[in-house]
Amino acid sequence: MLTLGIETSCDESSVALVLDGRQILANVIHSQTDHSKFGGVVPEVAGRVHLRKIVPVYRQALSEAGVSLDDVDLIAATMGPGLIGPLLVGLTFAKGLAFAVGKHFIGVHHIEGHIAANLLEHPDLQANHLTLIVSGGHTMLVEVRRFGSYEILGATRDDALGEAFDKVAKLMGLGYPGGARLDRLAQQGDPKYHRFPRALLKEGYQFSYSGLKTAVALFLAKLSETEFERHKADIAASFQEAAVSVVVEKTVRAALERDLHDVSISGGVAANSRLRVLLAERLSAIKRRLFYPSVELCTDNAAMIAAAGFYRYQDEGPGELAINAVPYLRLDE
Ligand code: KG4
Ligand code: ZN
Repeated sequence: MLTLGIETSCDESSVALVLDGRQILANVIHSQTDHSKFGGVVPEVAGRVHLRKIVPVYRQALSEAGVSLDDVDLIAATMGPGLIGPLLVGLTFAKGLAFAVGKHFIGVHHIEGHIAANLLEHPDLQANHLTLIVSGGHTMLVEVRRFGSYEILGATRDDALGEAFDKVAKLMGLGYPGGARLDRLAQQGDPKYHRFPRALLKEGYQFSYSGLKTAVALFLAKLSETEFERHKADIAASFQEAAVSVVVEKTVRAALERDLHDVSISGGVAANSRLRVLLAERLSAIKRRLFYPSVELCTDNAAMIAAAGFYRYQDEGPGELAINAVPYLRLDE
């Protein structure tokens, strides 16, 4: 069964073709760079760029996959959560396409898409597993009972982990979005240079990252220009260590308390090199398995949306064309 996936919830316009929820024939991603001068995604600008990009990206995906719309069985698009303008572009395009050519359509939850990125690449991941979703917009620990049935153990009270990376990267002059650049810089630094706070480390499964960002800002404000230049990599590594330690600690605790053998991570920050190493070490010490998607499937992409749409379609059949975009859509509703 061939699924055409469409993702436009934030600043990536992406269209993919995925066979049977597992084999990626094409996964074209256009990442908007128009927001870097503003230091964050401007929703109105994002919506307009999606409008310009969605058709060329769609055509490129079909051509890379070597298929035509006739070959497609199901059209899946992100319906939320996300920015309303961007969501509407992809969702309306998908519904229009499905209606015009009489194909089945299904709306996909963006976070369920991130969860499906692991299922797509790791057929041996147990249906009942623990997943940590860490992206620019979300920080969430979830017990997946089976695909489609979720219990949210905890989420962030304020900033998301990726947001903290981006804000600190911006403070350090690394541009926007700077998470990946900060990761690279931190690889040359000393994580013990300064101990930044680890909020709520021992408490429950909730997260808080706004205080860490403020702590870095206050630390930077006290440094001279030369001290900053000399210790840039050390500061990046120290921030990263604090940021990552908290999600690692809580993920390990949840795997034990919930007695879950398999753990997956997804979302843009799942690409972080320190998170992968630290979590792998800690989980292997308690004999748990760690799964993560390849880097291209960590950040927003349509292949994960196609896979999630396909799995949901297996359970529920096609969705309604009457659905609308929902900017705040809970995973467990
Ligand atoms: O999943 P994603 O594309 O968008 C959302 O759904 O939010 O995640 C993007 C986020 C950005 O905050 C970006 O800076 C961060 O993921 N990111 C990273 C790395 N690569 C991407 N953060 C830390 N280390 C990385 N290697
Ligand atoms: Zn995302």
